[in-house]
Amino acid sequence: MCGIVGVLGNHQVAPLLVEALKRLEYRGYDSAGIATLNEGRLDRRRAVGKLVNLSDLLVHEPLAGRAGIGHTRWATHGAATVANAHPHRAGGVAVVHNGIIENFRDLRAELIGLGYGFESETDTETVALLMQHQLSLGLAPAEATAAVLGRLHGAFALCFLFDGQDDLLICARKGSPLAIGHGDGEMFVGSDAIALAPMTDRITYLEEGDWAVITRAGAEIFDMANRRANRAMTRIQVDATRIEKAGYKHFMAKEIAEQPVVLADALKHYLGAGGLTLPHALDFTQVDRITLVACGTAHYACHVAKYWFESLAKLPCDIDIASEFRYRDAPLSPQSWAMFISQSGETADTLAALRHAKERVAKVVSVVNVATSSIARESDVALPILAGVEVGVASTKAFTCQLAVLALLALKAAQDRGTLTADQVATHLADFRLLPGLMNHALTLAGEIEALSEHLAGAQDVLFLGRGPMYPLALEGALKLKEISYIHAEGYASGELKHGPIALIDNRVPVIVLAPRDALFEKTVSNMQEVMARHGKVVLMSDKRGVAEAGAGCWQTLTLPEVPDLFAPMLYAIPAQLLAYHTAIAKGTDVDQPRNLAKSVTVE
Ligand code: AGP
Repeated sequence: MCGIVGVLGNHQVAPLLVEALKRLEYRGYDSAGIATLNEGRLDRRRAVGKLVNLSDLLVHEPLAGRAGIGHTRWATHGAATVANAHPHRAGGVAVVHNGIIENFRDLRAELIGLGYGFESETDTETVALLMQHQLSLGLAPAEATAAVLGRLHGAFALCFLFDGQDDLLICARKGSPLAIGHGDGEMFVGSDAIALAPMTDRITYLEEGDWAVITRAGAEIFDMANRRANRAMTRIQVDATRIEKAGYKHFMAKEIAEQPVVLADALKHYLGAGGLTLPHALDFTQVDRITLVACGTAHYACHVAKYWFESLAKLPCDIDIASEFRYRDAPLSPQSWAMFISQSGETADTLAALRHAKERVAKVVSVVNVATSSIARESDVALPILAGVEVGVASTKAFTCQLAVLALLALKAAQDRGTLTADQVATHLADFRLLPGLMNHALTLAGEIEALSEHLAGAQDVLFLGRGPMYPLALEGALKLKEISYIHAEGYASGELKHGPIALIDNRVPVIVLAPRDALFEKTVSNMQEVMARHGKVVLMSDKRGVAEAGAGCWQTLTLPEVPDLFAPMLYAIPAQLLAYHTAIAKGTDVDQPRNLAKSVTVE
């Protein structure tokens, strides 16, 4: 996901722009650049790779000016080159963009027909040239912007800077988030509040389709029909945007370690003295079915929750990945709820799926980590997971906190539908309170897992197996490993092994078996033995009883604390995360910003 910033400052803005871009690094990028008005004249500096390359360039070729825009680019159209890096410029206008202009090919052909030439392969350059063309027709910047926005299809957050206009920024959002920051005689624009936190805590979030004309005196906001719009200014909790490694080598290590604390915070938020304190609007007696929709790790959280809603509350629960849900025309009951799970709350596929479902269901519920995100704002009920800022591209604490909130929702559903007695619910909640302590115990396995990962780093293929709610954990463990170590890994339901994947097994293939000593344990042990009979290298993750019963003959075993079945997925996520983390370190990959990935994918 790209990051954009803009500053109308009272001092030199280049350092502010670079600092703001540093706070957007977590989104993932492969090039960066800034543009300023230097004595009224537009000028740019752009560099491929990490921001340090742009900073080096600015040392040798400084860029003066009190007005400027900046960008971190996650390549969509065109490779990571200087020519494709933002800001893009055409004549007297520069622009930075997050999103995808879906009709850029038609626009490009039209502009070529008008005699314009292109320097890049990007969709963004068409926006710069469209703006230049409107200005050349004599339109003022604001009118030209309205004309340009009317031509764009797709998702975009944009910020424009104009030659000779030292007190003007124009920005727009459609499908990608954008925030305006209010300073003292200064104004700011950013993809999120995290980027702007060092400069201001007074934030106005643009709504879908909004655009704004900004001067140092303030912002004039217009809606998608170009009517003046009032949008609230909020004060953000600056410490909530504080993103430091706090002594850890990587953000991912910090976020894995934070899980007991942030999960306890989530429980504190939702568990009052009298038990569950969820919004009254979530009355599960009114619903006949729920559909859980998400992407990636968040989808695996939905997959675990399906077992809980159906076994505890006897509530039919469909799950789907957002990019499929939106196009498969699912028959949605008007008495059903659609629930969207998203750490960032900005994932384009999930947001599009929410908008697709909104008119077809009784209620849209979201479970998000960013309470001010688009998905939260467009939901009927938005439940925060309170995991704190998650910077590592590989989702860890957000996953276990999503599971925690989903488990509470499943217990609420069981309570409302009378499938669990009040005492049974109370027992589950009492067990829930023990989970942070058990997670702390699981974190002490890091040393053993680090040693194991040295062996895993050489593998070409790794399988993860699990049954019941541990099956989605196998999928999640495989995703964690592949996305940060680049080792091919697949998760399978243990029972599925003999239906094909067992053909992959030989003495070079590690097979990670996630199997607490639960009712399905014996079945999983049988599958495990099928693997060992073919010389597969089994790593058994279980509890003391499970390891004692089935650990003999395994390549490695990891012993986790006993845990009530309901909470096993949250506990077993920790060794899976640690295994991926240490294997990635052993392989020397970029743990926090793995290749080709972005923290939040705001393009479809
Ligand atoms: C998980 O480690 C990945 N970073 C990715 O699959 C992520 O879960 C997915 O893109 C969904 O993101 P979201 O939770 O912000 O919607």
